[in-house]
Amino acid sequence: MMFVQNLGLLIILLSVINISYSYPQHRVAFNTRGYIEAINKICIHWYDYHQNEISDECDIPVGGPSSKTSPANWSIGYKLSVHTEGGTLHNGPFFWWDGWVNGIYCNDIHMHLKAGGLAIKESFNLTIVYDKCFWE
Ligand SMILES: *[C@@H]1O[C@H](CO)[C@@H](O)[C@H](O)[C@H]1NC(C)=O
Ligand SMILES: *[C@@H]1O[C@H](CO)[C@@H](O)[C@H](O)[C@H]1NC(C)=O
Repeated sequence: MMFVQNLGLLIILLSVINISYSYPQHRVAFNTRGYIEAINKICIHWYDYHQNEISDECDIPVGGPSSKTSPANWSIGYKLSVHTEGGTLHNGPFFWWDGWVNGIYCNDIHMHLKAGGLAIKESFNLTIVYDKCFWE
């Protein structure tokens, strides 16, 4: 009897755990501007609940607005890498887990030159909104 009860509890627990492994999708938006000539490519890396990087997409347009929708169910966040002629700049990882449902992640990527035009600098600003990013 005890065993049967525990088995029932175990099955309930397993189904709760299984549900918690599904995460909401989010729109991740980009606005690359400024000295974009320095950029070779921009990639987004998607993370699963183990905080492992599972996949990436490197076709984010260099210059101007664009967006991606996170992979269904398993992704809990992302990291950006901006590959420039002077090295790779990383932003994140940023995680939503189960939170910010319907939130849009707005990534404003502003490139500059500094040190007399010798170094590439990035001003990065992440905001989470529920309607649209300020450039949309
Ligand atoms: C995975 O995502 C798809 C599309 O959003 C949805 O239809 C499906 O029910 C999800 N599966 C699970 C196990 O949550
Ligand atoms: C980031 O962007 C938001 C939305 O435009 C703005 O309100 C905020 O001041 C910005 N933060 C910085 C540090 O630039």
